[in-house]
Amino acid sequence: MTLSAKEVNELKHAPAVEGVLPEVLNRWSPRSFADREVSPSDLAKILEAARWAPSSYNEQPWRFIVATRGSETYNKMVAAMVEFNRTWASAAPVLILGIASTKFAQNGTQNYYALYDLGAAAALLSLQANALHLATHQMAGFDKEAARKAFDIPEDFTPGSIIALGYQGEPSALANKQLVAMETSPRERKPLSEIALSAWGVAAKLG
Ligand SMILES: Cc1cc2nc3c(=O)[nH]c(=O)nc-3n(C[C@H](O)[C@H](O)[C@H](O)COP(=O)(O)O)c2cc1C
Repeated sequence: MTLSAKEVNELKHAPAVEGVLPEVLNRWSPRSFADREVSPSDLAKILEAARWAPSSYNEQPWRFIVATRGSETYNKMVAAMVEFNRTWASAAPVLILGIASTKFAQNGTQNYYALYDLGAAAALLSLQANALHLATHQMAGFDKEAARKAFDIPEDFTPGSIIALGYQGEPSALANKQLVAMETSPRERKPLSEIALSAWGVAAKLG
């Protein structure tokens, strides 16, 4: 017997800190997805949240290839994944490939912040999904060149992550014990004292 989806959500919930957004505390990255479609209107809201992310020079370097299960686009995305990700992500009803334009549209110079900005958009997308009771799981584990070829991505654009999107499923539905163990283990984070600093190596005094 393994934990139910409900029990796992309790386990994965970040310890409550007053004033922190519930979507931040609730969000985690499941690998089990329920056999339930995402409505087109929810999908639009999730991409709308990404659209309003901040970006360097307001370049908005992100592009998203959106694929629903059963489509040719979806199958191409699954084919580009490493085997481990393919095992679980091919159950997600939606896959979204995030791509960043690495050159400024204005003058063609390199945009150092392209992937950084794509990451910011992906974060907003994930939080909006959570607010709609949907789950996301990002993946770096895919063949970038295979994705480039499959989707005719121009040279000045670089693939970032593939985001699996859908309703969370039961951990017991996962394909093997390793995945169930990962799905039902607690989440870990570095302490705030290690990441918020007043000088290098010195914890900032907060709160
Ligand atoms: C850019 C990025 C790449 C990731 N790549 C993978 C991946 O290839 N396969 C996978 O199973 N999880 C992947 N993850 C998920 C992380 O392992 C996960 O976000 C991290 O362990 C924290 O867990 P949480 O999102 O549940 O808080 C990736 C996450 C990000 C943001």
